[in-house]
Order: sequence, then structure tokens, then C-alpha cells
Amino acid sequence: MKKWSYKWWLVVLCAAWCGRAGVAYGQVDVDRDLAYCHRQVARALEGLKKNGGWDYAQMPRNILAADLEQGRTQWNCRPATPEEWCGGFWPGVLWYDYEYSGEAYIGRQARNYTASLGYLADREPYDHDLGFLVYCSFGNGMRLVPDAAYRDVIVGTAGQLAKLFNPRVGTILSWPREVGKQGWPHNTIMDNMMNLEMLFWASRNGGGKELYDMAVAHAETTMEHHFRPDGSCYHVAVYDTVSGDFIKGVTHQGYDDRSMWARGQSWAIYGYTMVYRETHDPRFLAFAQKVTDIYLKRLPERSKDWIPLWDFDDPSADAPKDASAACVVASALLELSGYVASEKGAQYRAAAEHMLASLGRSYQSGDRCVSFLLHSTGHHPAGSEIDASIIYADYYYYEALLRLRRLQRGLPVLGIG
Ligand code: GLY
Repeated sequence: MKKWSYKWWLVVLCAAWCGRAGVAYGQVDVDRDLAYCHRQVARALEGLKKNGGWDYAQMPRNILAADLEQGRTQWNCRPATPEEWCGGFWPGVLWYDYEYSGEAYIGRQARNYTASLGYLADREPYDHDLGFLVYCSFGNGMRLVPDAAYRDVIVGTAGQLAKLFNPRVGTILSWPREVGKQGWPHNTIMDNMMNLEMLFWASRNGGGKELYDMAVAHAETTMEHHFRPDGSCYHVAVYDTVSGDFIKGVTHQGYDDRSMWARGQSWAIYGYTMVYRETHDPRFLAFAQKVTDIYLKRLPERSKDWIPLWDFDDPSADAPKDASAACVVASALLELSGYVASEKGAQYRAAAEHMLASLGRSYQSGDRCVSFLLHSTGHHPAGSEIDASIIYADYYYYEALLRLRRLQRGLPVLGIG
């Protein structure tokens, strides 16, 4: 009898494994992955309990590679202050878990953590991250358990964010603190696109038309200046406050000024998809596809598993991955797939499913710690959160899985609010 080569044994083993898992290789087992997220949330909540209770003003932020090496499996937390941009993601994770499980206990925890951020509606803005802070928390809460008090917080916070809008430039100032420090008179970072979702919602819910106009102006100005001809973006666009002119595009968290920082591009993909949903303006739909297509075109260059390097242009052989960017992009593509012609939509959805399958197969933390995912990169140039679990990866992972489940059930993808 002819001897089987090792390749055939590999195929047989792979098929056996996939059969055991009840899912074909490359497909997402949504039910399995959602159940996994739910279990990890329960473990995390237990770990966060101190002296029989929870400090709701301490928000999970990261679990570092060094923590794992030293056997620490729980989230490192940061206070729910305006300086900590990630404070809204853990309440958002809890809201997604409540959406998935319907458990009253999870709903209570979501409410309690969310409440710690409500004061931001009455505070002068520290920077542009108010959308991440308040809309991922209160916005998801508003969607699942509508509440006039939540609406007031969102509308109030949108009003605070609007104070950073410069009409001469046509964008929101992202980092007031960097104006003097870096000499960036008016700086806007790509991440800021994400905060527009809160302005759109607030405009529809009592905040006034100006908020809508600001969001559209921000998206238009960013579209004009913040991108290279191929559709890849700078992290930071610097503008003149007097003339309103664009001065330069530079990086802060990417490899260099000309590189494609993975998460920056993911914010652009998600941001323009969301702006199209809110405006139905075909210019934004075309642009969402442009910024997506350069990402998908370049992805296989050095990432064989659909998860990007932290920066597409980092030449080093051991450049770390950024699972968080893949989560943001997967979630966005599931939405974008519903807005474009069927053939292209199928390509976007297939790409998103490949990303989620890869995350489910090779990036889940499992027993190693309580996060959903490993291998995200926060601020590489600063040497911070490299190859780590980071809370926003988990937030967008849960969101993407819930979006995929909706699509599988024949339902459209929704925004937060
Ligand atoms: N500055 C937000 C981020 O790291 O994507």
C-alpha cells in the first residue's frame, strides 16, 4: 500500500479537528465564540471583586505580556477619568454581554460601570476621546435599556465635544495638550472619526442640527487632507488655526510619517462606514471602500493570518501584531458589506469572517487570562502595551461577533445607539 505523505496526515488531522469543533476551517463558530466571551466576562468580574464588592470607577485596561509571565491573569485597571481614553470600553463590553446573555446581573454591572462616566457631560473637554468614553458606554446602554437620563448624558457630552470644533479648519481638535508640546496648532487624529457617531446620535435626539453639521464637516475635511492618494492615512493632521490650512500629516503612534499604522487605518474604515450610515452620502460610501481596499490589498504582504502587524510598514522581522485593529476592521466590514453591491459585499463579509475565524482560532486568551484576546499593540513608539490584551480589542471583538450573528439571522447590522 502506498505510504501517506505528512501532508495528507495534516489534512486528515485538520479535518478531524474541525469536525470536532463542528465548524469548517476558516469559518467562524459564532455561538462558540460568543459563549467564550460570556465566560471570560464572568471570570473578569470575579477577578475585579475586592472585599466582596466592585470599584465601579476603576476600568479594565490591559493585561501585559509581563503579567502573563508572572502568572497574573486579571485586568490592570485605570480610573474613570477624562485622561484615560479607554474607560468606556469595559462598560461597553458588559452591555454587549447583556445583549448576548440577557442576564440581569450583567445588566446591573453594565449600569454601575457606565454610571461612573456620567460626570463627563458636565466637564470641560480634556480631549476628543469623549465619544469612546461616553458613547461606547451610555450609547450601548441607551440602545438596550432606553433611559432619558442616559440621553441627557450623551447629548451633554456631545455638547462638550463640540467645544473642540474649529469652524475655520472644519475639524475637532483632538489633543489640546499637544498644541504647545508638539507645536501642532490644531491637531486632528484619525481616531477622532469614531467620536462623530455620538454627535450624529445627539443631533437626532435633542442636541440640534449644528452637531450633525460639525460631524459632516469633520468627515469632509478629514477626507480631503488626512489621506495619501492610495487611501492610507496619516495618524495626525496638523492645521493652521488662523488660515485653517492643512500644514502636514505626521504620525504619533505609527512607525513613521509615511507608514500605514494599522489601527489608524482601522479607525478610518470604521469611521467612514459609520458616517455613510448616518448621512447616506455616496461620497462617504466610496471613500469607505477606498480606505478599506488599500488595507485589504496590503494585508497579505506580511500577515498570512488576516491579522495585521501593528504597522504595515514596520520592516523588522519580529514586528508584533495588532489584534485590536483586526477587530475594528472586522466589525466595520460586516456593516460595509451591507451597503455595497452584492459581489463586493460578499468579499467584505468573507474578509471579516476570515479575520474573526483567525482571532477565534489563534488569538483567544483561553485559560491564560480573563481577556478575550491576546496580541494587540497599543503605543509601539512609546514602548507601551506591546503584544498585550487591551480592552478595546475585546470591545470590538464582541461587537463584531454580535454583528455577524445578526447577519446570520437575516438582520441588518446596527450602530451603537
Ligand atoms: N489613540 C487611540 C488608539 O490607540 O487607537
